[in-house]
Amino acid sequence: GGTVRDVVAIDGPGGVGKSTVAAALADRLGVAHVDTGAYYRAATLACLRAGVPLGEGPACARVVEQAHIDRRGGRTFLDGADVEHAIRGPEVTEHVSQVAGHPQVRRLLVPRQRAATAHGGVVEGRDAGTAVVPDAPAKVWLSADPRERAARRARQLGITDPAEIDALTADLARRDTADARQMERAHDAIVVDTSERTVTQVVEAIVERLPTGPDHV
Ligand code: DC
Repeated sequence: GGTVRDVVAIDGPGGVGKSTVAAALADRLGVAHVDTGAYYRAATLACLRAGVPLGEGPACARVVEQAHIDRRGGRTFLDGADVEHAIRGPEVTEHVSQVAGHPQVRRLLVPRQRAATAHGGVVEGRDAGTAVVPDAPAKVWLSADPRERAARRARQLGITDPAEIDALTADLARRDTADARQMERAHDAIVVDTSERTVTQVVEAIVERLPTGPDHV
C-alpha cells in the first residue's frame, strides 16, 4: 500500500496511452489509479441528464455540485449508479471538452480528485502535475506521434478502414485544440515518448526514474 508520498502525476494528450500506463503503474506501485478524465465525463453525463445548457459554466457547476461522483474498482459511479459504460460513449465524448472547459466545474472537481490520492495514487489527466497534485514527488508527461495515437485509438475501437482512421486523426486534433487550455506540462515533469514502446517498457522507464528514498515511492 502507498503512503501520502506515493503520488505520481501522469499527463499528456488523448491517445498517448495514459490510462493503460497509469493503471499498470498504479498496480505495480500498489496505489490507487485516479482517472481525472472520468470525473469530467461523469460531470458531463450529469449535465446532459439534467438538460442544462452545456455552454453555461454556472449552470453546469450547479449540477456538478449536487452530483455524487465516485470511482471504485476501476468503475465510475454517479449518484450511486455505475455509469462506466455511459461515460465512454459518443454523447459524453462529444461534449466533455466543453463541460471540462468551465473553470467553475474544474474548481469543484479538482479537490475531489486530489482527495482520492489520500493513500497515494497515480493521477492521470491533463493537469494532474500542475493543478491536482502539484506537490507530487514524481511527474510524467507522455507524448506520442499523432499518427501513432490515431492508430492506437483505431485498434482499441476495432477500426481498419483508412477513411475512418483519417476521421479519428482529425477528431484527436480537434480534441487537442479543445483541451489545449487545460493541458499543461509541469516544468518538473519527465517526458516519456510512448510511440515505439510497449506498456511494460513505458512503465519501466517511469519506475526507473522515480525518486527514491524513505519518503518516496
Ligand atoms: O482522458 P479522457 O479522454 O477521459 O478525458 C476526457 C475529457 O476531459 C477530455 O476532453 C479532456 C478533459 N480533461 C480535462 O480537461 N482535465 C483533466 N484533468 C482530464 C480530462
